[in-house]
Amino acid sequence: MSEKPVEYSGPQRVFSGVQPSGDLHLGNYLGALKNWVALQDEHDCVYCIVDLHAVTVWQDPRELPNQTRNIAAAFLASGVDPKKAIIYPQSRVKAHTELAWYFNCVARMGWLNRMTQFKDKAGKNSEKMSVGLFDYPVLQAADILAFKGTHVPVGEDQKQHLELSRDIAAKFNNDFDVPGFFPQPEPIIQGPGARIMSLRDGTNKMSKSDPSDNSRINLTDDADAISKKIRKAKTDAGVIPETTEELAERPEVKNLVGIYAAISGKSKADILTEYAGQGFGVFKPALADLTVEHMAPITDLMKRYLSAPDEIDAILSAGADAASEIATPIVADVRDIMGFWKV
Ligand code: AMP
Ligand code: TRP
Repeated sequence: MSEKPVEYSGPQRVFSGVQPSGDLHLGNYLGALKNWVALQDEHDCVYCIVDLHAVTVWQDPRELPNQTRNIAAAFLASGVDPKKAIIYPQSRVKAHTELAWYFNCVARMGWLNRMTQFKDKAGKNSEKMSVGLFDYPVLQAADILAFKGTHVPVGEDQKQHLELSRDIAAKFNNDFDVPGFFPQPEPIIQGPGARIMSLRDGTNKMSKSDPSDNSRINLTDDADAISKKIRKAKTDAGVIPETTEELAERPEVKNLVGIYAAISGKSKADILTEYAGQGFGVFKPALADLTVEHMAPITDLMKRYLSAPDEIDAILSAGADAASEIATPIVADVRDIMGFWKV
């Protein structure tokens, strides 16, 4: 007779991460950071700058520390409060790499072979990619589960990686007969900001790696740059439609309305009611004003934080200590469960 599986019953914890591999953009902000801030008042939150993930593709060692600081400044400027949430660089906490190795021996090749992000990033060059890039989602599972993370606020592109984390957690619990040891981390993929597309092509997501800077709004862009990019954004010859169904075949328009919705907190339907029948000569300036009004204070704050790098470093160092305190005992339990030699 098989017993009913025991569910995880430990504390709830929010975990998420961003790579320090370039400037953050509006997609990162609306898809991830804005939700992180909303969660920190009610939950235990751990927000990580995932530098170990960043080096799965080449990063200049002279640049990496500053890139990490830039991301920390973006977290802080967006409203992540180090008194409420832990923020730290991944490489400062050894639990990540250690648990990732253990999970390498739990995850199956077939599972990783199905990961679409690797296929997208590697393209035809998969033989020339680092082993780390292939293994990236296993490290991500280790990030979350080293903290027994139960909720993971991310953009839509991370959905498949989260499914893999759940599979790894379930297989570990099952293989080692420790029901409920690891939770099943739930993605929090919310609202119109979960998938912001390129301003130049509504079928591609807004991305750090797009060669065209006009395709994205960077968190470091000033008011002028933001306005110009929105005014230049690709649209079509039509006007703003009346219903959301009519957006389906118009990816660029859908994206601009989605950005408006995500920033303003209004529904897409309400925005369409307000602007139906108007041309982009009216809608784009309104969107530009809204975006500037919301993003300019963040950009200013980011600059202020970056002018005091010592403060950022102190926050990251205290965050790393706090993160280690949570993750170290969890990984020590994993060692016991797996039967490693006790010192
Ligand atoms: P990355 O920049 O790839 O480290 O992503 C950091 C976070 O931003 C993750 O939660 C992503 O899902 C989210 N994200 C990245 N690009 C977008 C986008 N275009 N729209 C919405 N969310 C995004
Ligand atoms: N893979 C994520 C991205 O590119 C970043 C990431 C790494 C992450 N570890 C994580 C996100 C753990 C959430 C939880 O966006």
